Amino acid sequence: MEVVSPINGCSGDTAGRVIICKAAVAWGPGEPLVIEQVRVDPPQKMEVRVKILFTSICHTDLSAWKGENESQRAYPRIFGHEAAGIVESVGEGVTEVAAGDHVIPLFNGECGTCRCCKNPKTNACEVMGVNPMKRTMTHDGKTRFTTADERRLPIFHFLNTSTFSEFTVLESACVVKIDSEAPMKKMTLLSCGLSTGVGAAWNTVNMEAGSTVAIFGLGVIGLAVAEGARARGASKIIGVDINPLKSVVGKQFGIIDFINPRDSDNPVHEIIIEKTNGGVDYSFECVGNGEILRTAFLSTHIGWGTTVMLGVHTSPKMLPLHPMELFSGRKVVASVFGGFKGRSDMPQFAKQCIEGVVKLDEFITHQLPFHNINDAFQLLIDGKSLRCVLQF
Ligand code: APR
Ligand code: ZN
Repeated sequence: MEVVSPINGCSGDTAGRVIICKAAVAWGPGEPLVIEQVRVDPPQKMEVRVKILFTSICHTDLSAWKGENESQRAYPRIFGHEAAGIVESVGEGVTEVAAGDHVIPLFNGECGTCRCCKNPKTNACEVMGVNPMKRTMTHDGKTRFTTADERRLPIFHFLNTSTFSEFTVLESACVVKIDSEAPMKKMTLLSCGLSTGVGAAWNTVNMEAGSTVAIFGLGVIGLAVAEGARARGASKIIGVDINPLKSVVGKQFGIIDFINPRDSDNPVHEIIIEKTNGGVDYSFECVGNGEILRTAFLSTHIGWGTTVMLGVHTSPKMLPLHPMELFSGRKVVASVFGGFKGRSDMPQFAKQCIEGVVKLDEFITHQLPFHNINDAFQLLIDGKSLRCVLQF
């Protein structure tokens, strides 16, 4: 097959040909990513090849890179799932996007035809929903990435997206077109962190004005929950984090009450119950830790308090609750991609973000060239960045 190395991006003459471009390849758990040339095959039936303009790193990339969940280990692999880009070419049968469209990738796809996609109560998709075990394309069970050297090793895909590459191939169910006027750098946030947090407040619990809220873990996910809660008119937002710097960061997002669990001998849930006269209406677990999930549960008001789990729990532990505790009337629910149906809801959410319903700028604390991706990982590990956007 003919091969092309695009210099100025999508010139139109790359369609149907293998593209050789830069990617950050993971060769083993926790090993620095290697920026190298990879071959990206043309999109097959119901697939889309996208030129990534910006990508950023989310905690889920960090966990996957570290190989925290052994069953998910597969190398070489291209991680990354928060991004924004332009369609370079489409495969057979793709009608909803075309070359030149501005798009964001969706790690939680929406096929549009399965029972879940047809049910307004859920954003799960039986066919293209988030699946950390998936590492190849649905059409033929093969990868579209191979190493550019003579070995031609297949490079595995990640979370339906693999955005740490100048070009990537996605299932068409995992791509959504957005307004071509939308600022692409900021739109990157919508493909995971921002939508997940804001949507948890808006869609998963449909938060009422005046609600009291406790957020555990003030990374982008937790801060986006705060932003969603603020937009809904929450009366009190309490932030909990072990990183003291997050008390300063939290203030930018309306978190006036900050609790560092390490600063107090009293259990955090008791402090929250006291501050809110019986417990918060909603608590959000944005860390991925069973103990914190339990504290979040105990921090809500009996009778109606709802805890939303957003953190990804990598260790194989059961829910840290006794079944009888649910008779208190407290509930626990989980939220994937903030309950947004990716292809149906993102264009409207993008519009709301551009109109300023939700703040975007504050989430982007750093920007680096793509080849500095390992530095961007370190910023996240050190708790120094919210989102570091990488530019190709
Ligand atoms: N108690 C309170 N806060 C904690 C604790 C703890 N024991 N441990 C870590 N944190 C804080 C960190 O200090 C950090 O501010 O949780 C925050 C996590 O933020 P990020 O690493 O930026 O992660 P984020 O991208 O927001 O994702 C959070 O959601 O999607 C999942 O996989 C993701 O599980 C992760 C979670
Ligand atoms: Zn579906």
